[in-house]
Amino acid sequence: MAEWDEPIRKKGFILNFQTKKLQEVHDKHIIEAPRSVDCYEKLNTLGQGTYGIVYRVRDKLTSKEYALKKVKVDKDLFRDGFPVSCLREISILKTCCHPNVVKLKEVVVGKELEKIYLVMEYCEQDLASLLDNLEKPFTESEVKCIIIQLLRGLQYLHDNFIIHRDIKVSNLLLTDEGCLKIADFGLARTFAVPSKSMTPNLVTLWYRPPELLLGSTHHTTAVDMWAAGCILGELLLNKPLLPGKGEIAQLELIIELLGTPSENIWPGFSQLPAIQNFTLRAQPYNNLKTKFPTLSQAGLRLLNFLFMYDPKKRATALESLESNYFKEPPLPCNPTFIPSFPQHRNFKNAPSSSSSKNEHSSRSSSKHKISEMLENLKRKRFD
Ligand SMILES: Nc1ncnc2c1ncn2[C@@H]1O[C@H](COP(=O)(O)OP(=O)(O)O)[C@@H](O)[C@H]1O
Ligand SMILES: [Mg+2]
Repeated sequence: MAEWDEPIRKKGFILNFQTKKLQEVHDKHIIEAPRSVDCYEKLNTLGQGTYGIVYRVRDKLTSKEYALKKVKVDKDLFRDGFPVSCLREISILKTCCHPNVVKLKEVVVGKELEKIYLVMEYCEQDLASLLDNLEKPFTESEVKCIIIQLLRGLQYLHDNFIIHRDIKVSNLLLTDEGCLKIADFGLARTFAVPSKSMTPNLVTLWYRPPELLLGSTHHTTAVDMWAAGCILGELLLNKPLLPGKGEIAQLELIIELLGTPSENIWPGFSQLPAIQNFTLRAQPYNNLKTKFPTLSQAGLRLLNFLFMYDPKKRATALESLESNYFKEPPLPCNPTFIPSFPQHRNFKNAPSSSSSKNEHSSRSSSKHKISEMLENLKRKRFD
């Protein structure tokens, strides 16, 4: 007979101690034990971020490749049960099903209780390492195709009451089919209306909106939309748009680009916590046009809409998708026309015996030359 605290794994009957009667075990009562991480063979490291290491792995049963993310778990947190921060990432990913959001295959466990891993669909690139290694910038029609997919993913998340809160290039993955996937839900939250207050300093600095820099604890989906604007700018410029070295410097860069905010354009601005302590530099001009001299009127309108100081007035994902920028030439290309690239992460991190070494994309031959692109492994990104 099963121990009292063991999950039920078999069908049949169990004795109900309250009613003293045998009770049938139905399918819905059976809890599948998670598989062991040993079911996967490690191929190489893909990334190592703040919250965990990510490996490329192969399912020993099916030979299919996946990404395996070790969830960083603080042993002490286990005293009060399973840590909420891990549960959030798992539960949010589990509910998501959209072509532009990375898919969670399963959660597997190691030998000890605190060793937990997420098995996700494997994507050949992340946008950060791709941008670092690109020889030629993306064309405008490729940029549009990538941003449209980001906006569709965000629209799905926001419609489902999820704020990602850490949209940045290293959290955006790209498959060899040109499909963008939003990943890394380590900081994501579900929200209710009206929203609760949250810690202000979460979003990575370069993509952090002014309301959080100024101490607002009121997080809305507009936080992700500001980051989407930063990414559109970054793809068009082929370098980070607002690479601040600290919070004050970040605000300075924003003001330099967009002008100083005021109570007039952003009601409630003067009540924000940080405004009580210091005065912002007066800069009356919006310099987006100078920064993006060749961008069309519709493109500038979209950027300005995504960079509205007042989060309430900032473009939503749906409003951005409806922008004329995506309807005018050069039109967004079909994702399958985005060139595929060598998988730098696998070359750099594969063990020498790994069979992954020669794994080039099947679509690449007629597009970018892999050898040419490998020449250019120099620039480093600090985020
Ligand atoms: N599904 C995946 N497929 C391919 N690479 C991935 C995948 N998930 C994550 N990565 C890589 O691992 C890096 C870190 O993963 P991420 O989920 O962002 O964790 P962290 O919380 O540590 O930032 C990413 O920037 C990306 O390079
Ligand atoms: Mg990350």
